[in-house]
This record gives sequence, C-alpha cells and structure tokens, in this order.
Amino acid sequence: MATIHRGHVFHIAGSPLVTQAAEHLVAFPDGALVVDDAGIILWCGDWKDVPVEHADVKVVDHHGAFILPGFIDTHMHFPQVWCGDSYGGGQLLEWLNSCIFPSESKFEDPDYAHNAAVEWIDRLVTAGTTNALVFGSAFPHAQDFLFEEARNRGIRLVSGTGIQTVGPESASRLIVSEETAVERVRAEIEKWHPLDPEVRRQSLQSVAVVPRFSLSVTRTTLAALGEVYDHYRDAGVYFTSHLNENARTGTGEIDSVKAEYQVTDYLDTYDGRFMPGSQVGGKSFLGPRSVMAHAVHCSDAELARMAETKTSIAHCPVSQLFLGSGTMPWKRTVAAGVNIAIGSDFGGGDEWFVPQMLNACFKVHISERTPVGIDPYPVDDESLSLHPAELLFTGTLAGARALDLEDRTGNFDVGKEADFVIIDPTKWEMFDKTLKGRHVPEDPIKARDECLFTVIMLAREKALTGTYVRGRKLETSTGASRIGA
Ligand code: GUN
Ligand code: ZN
Repeated sequence: MATIHRGHVFHIAGSPLVTQAAEHLVAFPDGALVVDDAGIILWCGDWKDVPVEHADVKVVDHHGAFILPGFIDTHMHFPQVWCGDSYGGGQLLEWLNSCIFPSESKFEDPDYAHNAAVEWIDRLVTAGTTNALVFGSAFPHAQDFLFEEARNRGIRLVSGTGIQTVGPESASRLIVSEETAVERVRAEIEKWHPLDPEVRRQSLQSVAVVPRFSLSVTRTTLAALGEVYDHYRDAGVYFTSHLNENARTGTGEIDSVKAEYQVTDYLDTYDGRFMPGSQVGGKSFLGPRSVMAHAVHCSDAELARMAETKTSIAHCPVSQLFLGSGTMPWKRTVAAGVNIAIGSDFGGGDEWFVPQMLNACFKVHISERTPVGIDPYPVDDESLSLHPAELLFTGTLAGARALDLEDRTGNFDVGKEADFVIIDPTKWEMFDKTLKGRHVPEDPIKARDECLFTVIMLAREKALTGTYVRGRKLETSTGASRIGA
C-alpha cells in the first residue's frame, strides 16, 4: 500500500549544475508525493493531478507544511558532538590544540562514547539531516556505537575513524601507530561497509577513509592508507579530509602543510603527490566519492584537479565564520566545475540545521570580496545573491552528488528513494506570521522563489515535524520526532 504525503512541495528536479538550479526548481503549493511500501517515489506533482491508480492510497495530510528533500550534511565531526562554540583563543590550530583534541580524547570512555552516538543520531533526526558524511572518532568502540545507532534508527551515514599518526601533546590519546591506523581502517571497512554490491544497494551506511588532515599524518601513513583505499575504492568506500582551511601566514594550516611536505599545493598530499616538489609517492584519494572540507584558499590547479577527478567540496560557511577561515570563492569554484555541497563542520560550526547553513552561505557570498592588494579600495566585487534554488540545490542534490548517490536520493524524481522532511511554519510563530504577512509578488515565478527563500532563511529546527528516509519516519531515542519532545 503506497502513501501520499500532501503539502507544499519544493525540490530541484533532474540532474542540473548549480548554475541551472533555478530552471530545475519545482514547486507544488498543494502538492503530493506518492511513496510505495519500499520507500520508492512513484509520483510527485499537483494534488489535483494525482493519477487514478493512486486514488485509494493512504493520505498523510501535512496541511500548510512544506515538503523538501532530506538535508545532506557533507562534513561534520562525531567526537565534537559537545564541542559547539568552544573558545580556543585563536583560529584553527589553537582551537584544535586547546579544545578539540582534549574533548575528542574523552571518547576513550565507552559510556561517554555511547551517549554521544545516541545524541548524534538524535540531533541528525531533529535537524532533518537524512544523510551525513561524518568524521569519526579515533576509538573503534565509538565508531561501532555510531554505526549501530545509525543502523538501528534507519538513517543514512557515511563515516570513518579519524586517523592521526602524528601531532601535538594534546592529541596524544588520539594518535596511533601507522600499523594500528591501517589495521583499524581495514577492520572498520570489513565490519561496516557493505562490500557486496547487492547488499550495498540496500544498506544505508558506508565507510570512509579519513586522515584528519595532512598535518596529523605522515608521508608513509598517506602511502599506506592510499593502498588500503585503492583496494576498496571500487566497493564504494569514501575518502574525506580537510583542505585549505586556514591561511594564516607562516604558522597557519596551509603554510604548515607546504613546509612539512614541500609540495606546491596542499591538494597534492591527497593526490598521491606528497613527496618533495609534489613528486608522486603513492596512490591518489581523489575521485567521485571524495569530499574535501572547506577548500577556501585553493589555487586554480587545485580546483581544476578536483573538477577533473569529480572530487566535491564540503562548503562550511558557519564554521568558516567561527574559525576565521575566510570565504570560499563561490564564483571561481563554480566556474572551475567543482561540485559544492553544504557542510556544518560541527563543532567547528555551531549549527545542525542545514537551512541555517544555507542562510549563512547566502550572507557570506553576498558580502564576498576578493582582495587585490591595491590602495585605497583593494577589492574586486565578487558579491553575488545566490538564487534560492541554488541554495536548496547545495543543501540537497549537491550533497547526493558529493556522496555519489544522485541516482538514489537528493530530489523527488520518480524511482528515487523517498528521503524528505516536513517543515511546519505553525510550529514557530515568527516564521508563520512572516509567511502570512509578507508581500507576495504578482509574478508567480517571483512569488515561488521568494517563498522558498523565506523557508530557507527563516525556518528553524523547531518547525521541523518529520524526517523520513526511504519513506519511513525517523524517531529520536525517546521515540519522538524531536529531542526533548
Ligand atoms: N582540521 C583538522 N581537524 C579539524 C577539525 O576538527 N575541524 C576543522 N574545522 N578543521 C580541522
Ligand atoms: Zn572539519
């Protein structure tokens, strides 16, 4: 027996580039999403046009609420579940040393790690995040808890143990030998990654190879992990790490990577070219299931290489504001042909709700300037007003593309798996009153676009009343659809 979800539907249909998202924006103010028992989308359109063969199916009327594709967060840190807004007294490297490494070390305690896993999945459900690429804990028991919790709750998840084989004293409990790192990565893949293609089609969880960043590993670790990745690459294993996040001169992340590895570009270290002068020393991690977080300060060559290999970027504007990392150049990155998906970078960011990350994305790019270093006004105007469809694309379909799952999720095309969220404005007065009180343009396309913009900018978690994966409503650990409800 199928189910019809009735509500105000928005999605980006087909498989456009971000620059084509507005032409692919679909809206049905009184819409219907027809989902079969296996969670597959049978039909999506106007309520009055529902085909007769679905006339007798069960209807869930989300009257007045919005139905959007499930949100996809392509970069977040499980062992930072309780690290939001930690004061590091500086930028990335100070924050890691003084707050993050000590906090992540607490996952050594199995009870603490188990509570964290339950909380983590609760937060994803409450935020409407139906799929997430998650940097994992250094401790295998914590990763087991995370995968178990995700599997039991029926949420999509890609994760992998965060690998550190070198680092400062504050990270000592997170650092393992190279042999242990390789063993743990292999063991995690064998235990949690669906290696069989048929099982993989049914499974909602997958594993990623996750060196924390080039400064937390060595050339030999990268070479050894490259061999592991190469072995499992065709079985759909993912790769993710950080790239070009902090540009402080001399002591920041990027200069430190270049000094340590003697490479031309930071990306070279993940591309098998980690020997001095960017000589090849091992296998590349780049490809269509590889996601580089941040990529704020890339060279043209790095952008071209990511585009060529179909490596995506997890764009994390909330985190970039918090850690003073700068603004990823949207126009240049898009022009280079790199897929940009949204990421929270929680706890570098302090937001769980994808629309709030898109809200920040809009604000940072309309305020974007490129310094050219000439007095008295040393800026080029890179400002752009992202179209609401481009924002929706970045929080949904682009994430599916980054995770190589575009054939299965990310929008409401017929045949895809029904991952969606319900956002009910009546659950938050300011949102509801704004929607009712705002000026509505006469032009129907403008009215549609402005409505979507208001939903993205003004919705908050408290308005989210349902998170569905493959047509099934997810619950928090207490059986509610929200934490604390
Ligand atoms: N680079 C290395 N580790 C981290 C981390 O935990 N957060 C962020 N934002 N950047 C990193
Ligand atoms: Zn991060």
